[in-house]
Amino acid sequence: MPCHRTRDSGKHVYAAGIDIALVGDHVLVPCIDGRERPYVNLDSAASTNALPAVARAVEAFLPWYSSVHRGAGYKSRFATTAYEEARASALSFAGRVAGGTDIAIIVRNTTEAINHLAYRLRLDPHDVIATTVVEHHANLLPWARVCERRFVPCSLDGTFSVEDVVVALDANPRPRLLAITGASNVTGWLPPIDDIVAAAHERGVPVFVDGAQLAPHRALPADADYVAWSGHKMYAPFGSGMLVGPRATFTEGDPFLAGGGAVDLVDLDEVAWTDPPEREEAGSPNVLGAVALRVAIDALTGYGWDAITAHDDALAQQLRRGLAAVPGLRLLGPGLDVDTLPIATFVIDGLSHALVAARLSAEYGIGVRHGCFCAHPYLMRLLDLSDEEIASYRDDVLRGDRRSVPGAIRASAGLSTTVTDIDGLLRAVTEIASGAPAPVEYTQDPNTGDYWPEGDAPGWTATDRTLGASCARG
Ligand SMILES: Cc1ncc(COP(=O)(O)O)c(C=O)c1O
Repeated sequence: MPCHRTRDSGKHVYAAGIDIALVGDHVLVPCIDGRERPYVNLDSAASTNALPAVARAVEAFLPWYSSVHRGAGYKSRFATTAYEEARASALSFAGRVAGGTDIAIIVRNTTEAINHLAYRLRLDPHDVIATTVVEHHANLLPWARVCERRFVPCSLDGTFSVEDVVVALDANPRPRLLAITGASNVTGWLPPIDDIVAAAHERGVPVFVDGAQLAPHRALPADADYVAWSGHKMYAPFGSGMLVGPRATFTEGDPFLAGGGAVDLVDLDEVAWTDPPEREEAGSPNVLGAVALRVAIDALTGYGWDAITAHDDALAQQLRRGLAAVPGLRLLGPGLDVDTLPIATFVIDGLSHALVAARLSAEYGIGVRHGCFCAHPYLMRLLDLSDEEIASYRDDVLRGDRRSVPGAIRASAGLSTTVTDIDGLLRAVTEIASGAPAPVEYTQDPNTGDYWPEGDAPGWTATDRTLGASCARG
């Protein structure tokens, strides 16, 4: 188990708006030179550490932990109330009014929410939904199983316009749904979601917005018919997520999950499902996750979107402009004049993305992600790969060899990221891109595509290799 000690990082410069620390910020991690460095977490788009208020609330709730919707005891009533309060808070976070026509279904994460919705919409295999090439796999694959997909293309800078979406909406047959991301997990690009939702509604097409990246950074689009997001990307890493949508979608037909808690009556050959949202939540619910998510919602609401946006904008500018100025580095995605979330994805001429990420970790204690970020179709477009290049690396991967998987490096910031963190990344990337030799040899694992430094520093010996990132999968 790596050590979990933190060195006081008092010299940090905070971006505008927010100056908070998360649980585990700047924990000391071992580096290949044998020294420990405070961890610089630039992987918030993947998962975030817990807010201290979330961790405290979970700990305070534990003595009260009990079954939800299934117990007559006082603690069960207490837990059930906490669970239902989280649901109410999620509805309001999604811009819905209490007592309105929408419900919040508590799920594990965005992926589960989209699979759930794809099942519940009861699409015919010949039905078409419109979606985009910018999507995370979570918003591509569940639809592929149940219907046809019509794709909104993107240009080389990874963006599309409202007009591009309208073309997909107006084509025949009319799509049953538009499933679109609120923000890209690769480039941080924010599609003009309000205008897109309005254009879809003018044509009678309901909209699902994947709010996984949006939720920790911006208000969720209140006009979208359906929206989903994950707690672990918004400082509540306790295994809960939300699916919000009209109750009417969930009142007929069998639920996604069948089992206890979802029924009114069961006979050996008959079932009467109960009303939503409980109908959609078979099995014992994750009350700790729900409590955590509720506290994170309260915290983000307390900071306010203006303060969060100011913080994000300052970091996004510093990150993207700083990276774009590094010789030999190519920033993927929209130009610097376009506002994005504090997410930047880049490649360095002549250097493997996997090697750059490995060096940032082993030599500098900086955590980023590399690879295709669970958005293969989008990455292929951003990298402008030819069909032959894609076919060649596909063949390699299908043979179990991931050495040639194309990809990029992603740095992403969150609430507690500081100007100092980004400065550290820019310095490290500049050094690596300059061709400065690595202090040790790195070897690539053909099965994962990941690089590993050769050395015997604690945390980096051959037996520690089980900690490989396997970033190439996704
Ligand atoms: C845009 C987007 N959608 C969906 C997901 C899937 O989220 P989860 O892994 O929480 O299900 C992610 C995760 O990275 C994401 O970035």
